[in-house]
Amino acid sequence: MNIRVIELPLDFGANRRGSDMGPSAMRLAGLKQVLTELGHTCEESFPGISVPAQEFLEEGDPQVRFLKPIAEACTALAERVEQAVDAGAFPLVLGGDHSIAIGTLSGLGAAYRKRNLRWGTLWIDAHGDFNTPESTPSGNIHGMSLAIACGYGHPDLVNLYGKFRKLDPANVALVGVRDLDPLEKVNMREAGVTVFTMTEVDRLGIAETARQLVAFFTSRVDRLHVSVDMDVMDPMIAPGVGIPLPGGFSYREVLLLAEELASSGILASAELVEVNPVLDVRNQTARMAVEIAGRLLGSRVY
Ligand code: ARG
Ligand code: MN
Ligand code: MN
Ligand code: MN
Repeated sequence: MNIRVIELPLDFGANRRGSDMGPSAMRLAGLKQVLTELGHTCEESFPGISVPAQEFLEEGDPQVRFLKPIAEACTALAERVEQAVDAGAFPLVLGGDHSIAIGTLSGLGAAYRKRNLRWGTLWIDAHGDFNTPESTPSGNIHGMSLAIACGYGHPDLVNLYGKFRKLDPANVALVGVRDLDPLEKVNMREAGVTVFTMTEVDRLGIAETARQLVAFFTSRVDRLHVSVDMDVMDPMIAPGVGIPLPGGFSYREVLLLAEELASSGILASAELVEVNPVLDVRNQTARMAVEIAGRLLGSRVY
């Protein structure tokens, strides 16, 4: 496969600084070697999208912090993602905080719309990222990106890269969820997304959860995008994230899930976000992210 790696080193969609170094950390952890050893060709989206440091920016509206620079960077990302799909490549997007998904999902939405393809997204995250400017407790856009792609939120972001709904919430599932804000839950129920909380994972086990997720997507869509927020992992394994929350995925759970998704036959793009080297221990969160990418792209023990 032809994989196109697209970086967006942006950290001002979150409160804690440092996830802008995520792409370098994942490269240092050997991302390219892993993918080429699997037999893939690895193209670079070059030159990278340049993002100003938070110090040089105005925060603006406290309910949608750094709206303008995020919209700008996400527009540039959307273009690259759409071009990658047009070129027949597998877009692999490296963040950055999870606000960058606004760009990724907009680019995918545009690319699949013109091809008349049905597509869905699996959001692997401790959080829902389904806040709006009205419901957010923080004003951080990384807590709003999935809602925005589904058509809920600030119009400048919802209409970014075209006035159409990028992603149908009926084709969205979340897994690993263990922290939702009160009004965020209301938003999610109204949109009708499918949620596998950590409680469901505990009840079903990861093998059955993965089976149900694959069945869900293969029965509804032609193309699947997977967005991996590294805070879905247990902080013992992945401490280098902005919002570490106990009770996350184990090393084995996440790799099994990634393998099953790879085997679905519809996986067409992926995104790895919220790796924060400043908070990490010996780059282990980036190394975990690279292992996940490897399994999503065909790596197997035997
Ligand atoms: N729900 C919280 C908020 O809106 C946390 C969001 C965390 N999102 C993330 N991508 N880590 O601020
Ligand atoms: Mn999260
Ligand atoms: Mn919370
Ligand atoms: Mn997230």
